[in-house]
Amino acid sequence: MEITIRRATSDDAEAISAVWEVVCAERVYTAINRAFTPRQEREYIATLSDREGIFVAEVKGQVVGFQSLDLWAKYTDSFDHVGVMGTIILPKWRREGVGRRLAEHTLDFARANGYEKMVIYVRGGNARGRAFYRSLGFAPKGVLAQQVKIDGQYEDEVFMELFL
Ligand SMILES: CC(C)(COP(=O)(O)OP(=O)(O)OC[C@H]1O[C@@H](n2cnc3c(N)ncnc32)[C@H](O)[C@@H]1OP(=O)(O)O)[C@@H](O)C(=O)NCCC(=O)NCCS
Repeated sequence: MEITIRRATSDDAEAISAVWEVVCAERVYTAINRAFTPRQEREYIATLSDREGIFVAEVKGQVVGFQSLDLWAKYTDSFDHVGVMGTIILPKWRREGVGRRLAEHTLDFARANGYEKMVIYVRGGNARGRAFYRSLGFAPKGVLAQQVKIDGQYEDEVFMELFL
């Protein structure tokens, strides 16, 4: 299976929004409970700095997943060495190495752009997500209680970090 990884442009907004639609409908994996619309995605992509990005994974021209890299915070340069990642893969493309390929790309990009560490948040019930990030070398650092509230249900979030 040939997987192509590339940086998303605003032309990918529809495809990225379509992936969000599927994974948000699953309800259990991401704290994002409503899919971003193509318009929201386009606006978001336009706000990203040169050191940030969404990277899409394509198989035969179809976007099957993506990974985002954002600065931890933009209100001071004290956090400029810290990035935040997120990974979303369509259900039928999971466990095929797509997430790992995306992470290789994103982490190389991060190293080349002056990041020294990455942080991610994973919902407490998302053991698969945590297993994925552990496989990349992320270490669990703590739990934020009742950090997510979806469909009236609270859930903790686990935060994890990786030094590059
Ligand atoms: C979590 C997720 C991003 C993983 O992506 P993926 O493409 O399926 O992962 P990969 O196939 O590259 O797996 C890489 C490694 O991660 C670990 N891993 C991935 N999925 C796993 C699972 N379901 N159970 C246990 N370990 C898992 C394994 O070590 C795996 O290596 P292996 O297949 O050689 O054993 C994907 O399942 C997904 O999008 N889930 C829904 C959204 C989500 O939970 N995102 C993460 C929180 S933001």
